[in-house]
Amino acid sequence: MPGFPDVRPRRLRSSAAMRRLVAETTLEPRQLILPMFIREDAREPIAIKSMPGVYQHTRDTARKAVAEAAQLGLGGVMLFGVPTSKDETGSGGVDPDGILNVAIRDAVSEVGDSLLVMSDLCLDEFTSHGHCGVLDSAGRVDNDATLKLYGEMGVVQAEAGAHAVGTSGCMDGQVGAVRTALDMSGHPDTVILAYAVKFASAFYGPFREAVDSALQGDRKTYQQDNANAREAIREVDLDLAEGADIVMVKPALAYLDIIRQVRDHVNVPVAAYNISGEYAMVEAAAANGWIDRDAAILETLTSIRRAGADIILTYWAAEAVRILDRR
Ligand code: PBG
Repeated sequence: MPGFPDVRPRRLRSSAAMRRLVAETTLEPRQLILPMFIREDAREPIAIKSMPGVYQHTRDTARKAVAEAAQLGLGGVMLFGVPTSKDETGSGGVDPDGILNVAIRDAVSEVGDSLLVMSDLCLDEFTSHGHCGVLDSAGRVDNDATLKLYGEMGVVQAEAGAHAVGTSGCMDGQVGAVRTALDMSGHPDTVILAYAVKFASAFYGPFREAVDSALQGDRKTYQQDNANAREAIREVDLDLAEGADIVMVKPALAYLDIIRQVRDHVNVPVAAYNISGEYAMVEAAAANGWIDRDAAILETLTSIRRAGADIILTYWAAEAVRILDRR
């Protein structure tokens, strides 16, 4: 009929009920993992200024947050430790009584197997120089010496009860080293969530405050160059060959194309880390009244899911569930 469009895509947008019926992408609590910081010397939760709403927890408040995460039906928690003292080799990371390992035990005793307790497997929170590995005599990050420590760290975390460890340090061979150490110590079922694609990024800024990072300079000799997509796939292939169970892309928002490529390339679950700077941008704009916070949060998380992430690590995990419940 002249004057009428042949097809009207708007019909399928005509009401909330219609839009719900035809939505292609879901956002569910089980897909979200809450990263949490536990600070050794905290007597009360300490606000992280650059991440409004995120705190360095005490052991006690961390337990409560973990219990809440379980109750909300989240996919899991990812724990980071903030130790009181740091040293050259990051020994607090491999100490069974170090804050991260203590926090893992607390979390597991709180929720058992009803929620996945994951732990960051990297030395940067524990080293006095802030790098993700130990340094050689020339001051460079020593890949192979670091692998040995990662293996030990993985075993200590598994022994503390972690269901999954997140290898985030960007050393070559780290997944294989941790897998071997876990298998040889009687932990063949501990999952490795591999930060397979991790770019050197300006968006990590607020995280460095969150963990009281001592870092001077940058991590460009071990984290990936943000110009490279093929190299990202190469890193994914290596981590899978070394035994990664889940592969992650980090950051998320400036790398949605990489998430899609990885999703199309592999047959394992793909995670993405909606990092501190991505959180801070939305919160800062919302605090100024420049955007609708709740809508921006859901839009952000949906975009990461739509790009292909099965799982999202996000500081909004619990908050997103509350926003979804309100709608
Ligand atoms: C390093 C690590 C980083 C993050 C988590 N683990 C990045 C870094 O400092 O290089 C960043 C997380 C975030 O920004 O939210 N172990």
